[in-house]
Amino acid sequence: MRSHYCGQVTAQLLGQEVQLAGWVHRRRDHGGVIFVDLRDREGIVQAVIAPSQQKAFHQAAMVRSEFVIQVKGKVRKRPDGTVNPHLVTGQVEIEVSELTILNRAEPLPFPIDDEYHEVGEETRLHYRYLDIRRQEVYARFKMRAEIARYLRSYLYEQGFIEIETPFLTRATPEGARDYLVPSRTKPGSFFALPQSPQQFKQLLMMSGIDRYYQIVRCFRDEDLRADRQPEFTQLDIETSFLNEHDIQAIMEKMIHGLFKEILNVSLPQPFPRLTHAEAMRRFGSDKPDLRIPLELIDIGDLMCEVDFKVFADVANDPHGRIAALCVPGGASISRKEIDDYTRYISVFGARGLAYIKVNAEGKEGLQSPILKFLSDAAIQGIVERTQAKVGDIIFFGADKTKVVNESMGALRLKVGQDRGMVSEGWRILWVVDFPMFEGGEGQLSACNHPFTMPKVNSIEELNQDPMRILAYSYDMVLNGSEIGGGSIRIHSSDMQKAVFRMLNMSDEQAYAKFGHLLTAMKMGCPPHGGIAFGLDRLVMLMTGADSIRDVIAFPKTQTASCPLMDAPAPVEPEQLIELGIRVVKEL
Ligand code: AMO
Ligand code: AMP
Repeated sequence: MRSHYCGQVTAQLLGQEVQLAGWVHRRRDHGGVIFVDLRDREGIVQAVIAPSQQKAFHQAAMVRSEFVIQVKGKVRKRPDGTVNPHLVTGQVEIEVSELTILNRAEPLPFPIDDEYHEVGEETRLHYRYLDIRRQEVYARFKMRAEIARYLRSYLYEQGFIEIETPFLTRATPEGARDYLVPSRTKPGSFFALPQSPQQFKQLLMMSGIDRYYQIVRCFRDEDLRADRQPEFTQLDIETSFLNEHDIQAIMEKMIHGLFKEILNVSLPQPFPRLTHAEAMRRFGSDKPDLRIPLELIDIGDLMCEVDFKVFADVANDPHGRIAALCVPGGASISRKEIDDYTRYISVFGARGLAYIKVNAEGKEGLQSPILKFLSDAAIQGIVERTQAKVGDIIFFGADKTKVVNESMGALRLKVGQDRGMVSEGWRILWVVDFPMFEGGEGQLSACNHPFTMPKVNSIEELNQDPMRILAYSYDMVLNGSEIGGGSIRIHSSDMQKAVFRMLNMSDEQAYAKFGHLLTAMKMGCPPHGGIAFGLDRLVMLMTGADSIRDVIAFPKTQTASCPLMDAPAPVEPEQLIELGIRVVKEL
């Protein structure tokens, strides 16, 4: 039906006959001559239909926006003064000899053309097929495909084999709720859709595959955010006989090459590394956004004897933390803004947000609701340690370490964004040595997943001080977003059982849930480890999109539903009977 894409018709084709097919982007009637901007995925070209071409002109008079048409004609130079420098095709136009309407279109719920306005996301997702006609949206999917192509070819060259793993399977714990699929052949039993192919990829190492990868859908029923979807795509990777440094080096080279090829950006080599402990201490986050030049500073040791009870209590609590955040130029932050920040961090459990403004030199220059509780030595200590200057504000968070890290970490981001302190460009790093366990004694859970290798010399060591044990684990963090995470895995069934026991799982329970893995580990299991990247997140960052929904063709909304297909939806009673399922109305 066509000889070229619309976007390919440039001055190089001057004088040639072309045949194009696409959508009517815009139609203008200019006193006898009809102009049609014809659009396809590669761009827009102007077609001109003169009344002398009677048949074509008659057809052109009937076309409306988004009609699908085919035109035949000659490429000619646009008259002087009508050249459009913003279009690749802007120097030329098609002198149409034939025009065929291939299909009509009703008026659309929102315009695709230049008059496109932001319509609500719900509407855009309901008519996602129209939304994707927009150049901006299409460009993101094109880049997504290029990214996937690069990753595949890199991994192929490195000897990785792409293998598919099942979707209908059993639960693999990654910390979210499972999506369940009822079984018809085994009434009352359910498949779980995989939260990740974690167990399968480990089993493939036990099969001798050595280097595996897969671009694979994962399913997690969890609270949604701008960077989380209930089904999302991982670039999932596993290797044998490599240590964490080897794996990180291969992955760094891949991401480095990807940014060079797709964006012509040179990331640092090697990527900087922070331990989890240092990231939490300096940024209150395990995925620090290094584009913001603010850091948390511990001042608990200065507060042990102050009169302010909140601070003194926390200073003397081994599980407590008092962190200061000095914001250069922040003395101009208003009382109302401080109240807003206080409210903002209260969702993380913060009970207040103390501050000191440095309005002028000396103690008299300080302004703060807590000054009266602090000794001169304590005040001096704070100012010295935070290196606060005239014009700055120092914020304080005092609470359990977890609350302070989360709230002050969030405040650091918020203040940094509000005050335009986010630098341009790309800041990538590895965060390594996560703790093995989290939670409290007696109710430990795995910080990563329970297959991660702990940094211990013997099984006995696991029990000694579990909360202090680190894991051979690593996350890749880009501009404050966790784009990938992985670890070295446990490869001995004794160690795996011991870790399950730490997580309050008896050997019987462990065999019931993970018997396949424990058995396989006893039949020749190589040391192995890997990583998984969140492909949607990576593409979101690389395309500059605001949400991963923008880089997923048919995403779910915040309530985990699909407005286009109207899913999830009730099913026929017969289907339920077949599955042995009765739906109980919520009480
Ligand atoms: P993890 O749970 O860290 O590790 O997932 C790997 C990466 O997947 C992305 N991601 C998500 N992206 C969109 N929506 C979600 N709901 C979502 N959840 C996670 C993140 C994350 O870094 N099996 C392990 C990997 C391993 O150990 O090899 C795993 O799944 O970018
Ligand atoms: P109060 O004496 O409760 O009015 O608190 C005095 C100041 O300390 C106020 O600015 C509070 O916001 C702040 N504040 C109270 N509790 C905390 C806390 N746990 N961490 C940081 N600041 C706090």
